[in-house]
Amino acid sequence: MSKPKVFVTIPLDERMVGRLSALCEVSHWSGDGRCPADVLERELSDSRALLGYAPVSAALMDRAPLLRVIATSSVGYDHIDVQAATERGILVTHTPDVLTDTTADLAFTLMLAVARRIGEAERLTRAGRWGKGVDSSNLLGRDVHHATLGIIGLGRIGAAVAERAIGFKMKVLYHDFVRREDLEKKFGYRYVDLETLLREADFVSIHVPLLPETRGMIGAAQLAMMKPTAYLINAARGPIVDESALIAALREGKIAGAGLDVFEREPVDPENPLLKMENVVVLPHVGSATIATRRAMADLAAENVIAVMEGRAPLTPVNPEVLPRLRA
Ligand code: DGY
Repeated sequence: MSKPKVFVTIPLDERMVGRLSALCEVSHWSGDGRCPADVLERELSDSRALLGYAPVSAALMDRAPLLRVIATSSVGYDHIDVQAATERGILVTHTPDVLTDTTADLAFTLMLAVARRIGEAERLTRAGRWGKGVDSSNLLGRDVHHATLGIIGLGRIGAAVAERAIGFKMKVLYHDFVRREDLEKKFGYRYVDLETLLREADFVSIHVPLLPETRGMIGAAQLAMMKPTAYLINAARGPIVDESALIAALREGKIAGAGLDVFEREPVDPENPLLKMENVVVLPHVGSATIATRRAMADLAAENVIAVMEGRAPLTPVNPEVLPRLRA
């Protein structure tokens, strides 16, 4: 009997390739960047598992009759139609925890970079303008230490950002659907409603997943509540913020700046006005992008596929209710 096929779209450690090859035929896409949609569709047409980061719609699942496992190498799974997968008996797994600290580091980096005008200062220095009309007095930023941080979503990554803020002697406010009284007691965080958070925070950092109820949750009305000296940080998902409203708020000086690792459309359009604004730090969705963390994410995604291929429960399922009725 031929082995089931797994289509892999991310770099994988040799050891993992070996373990997968013992169970499956491994087809590895190794081009630059994301696997193109036509390659994905062709490969999935006879695959049992997808391992990596790729958008999967209900229509694509219907063109992949053998597909049983979508093991995304990301904590977020908004690029996969999980409801359609569940209806079709397809298991979805993701990679929580292993990227928490790395992503929190990046959110904090954005906060420091935008407040201390790092991008702007670096551009001026590289352009040879230091001493030619530009010095530090033209680059005065704002302090992060002792400022008030408002965290929207005190889940794994939000809580890790809050922990970093303690070292910077910041006051931490948070808003979430779930109250974390344990963390309030332990670290002195203050739970507030969204409006209070937006009105009081010097830095508003977003750490909720992209869901129908979080899509566009930061729009014109919310941005108007922020202080004109405050910064918006988004290392979660672009569509949580209404990007046109953000552009308008920045243009009108309603907020001081933004640090963005994510955009409504990715890759970001080179003509996006946010890319031209000096008070905006922009990054190409690199929240989890360190060598160690990307490897840990790939390993965990591969372990999930191996578990299912061996008839075991995966470590980090998104829709475990599918397990008893995995597509035959
Ligand atoms: C995640 O893991 O969800 C990161 O944003 C990478 O996509």
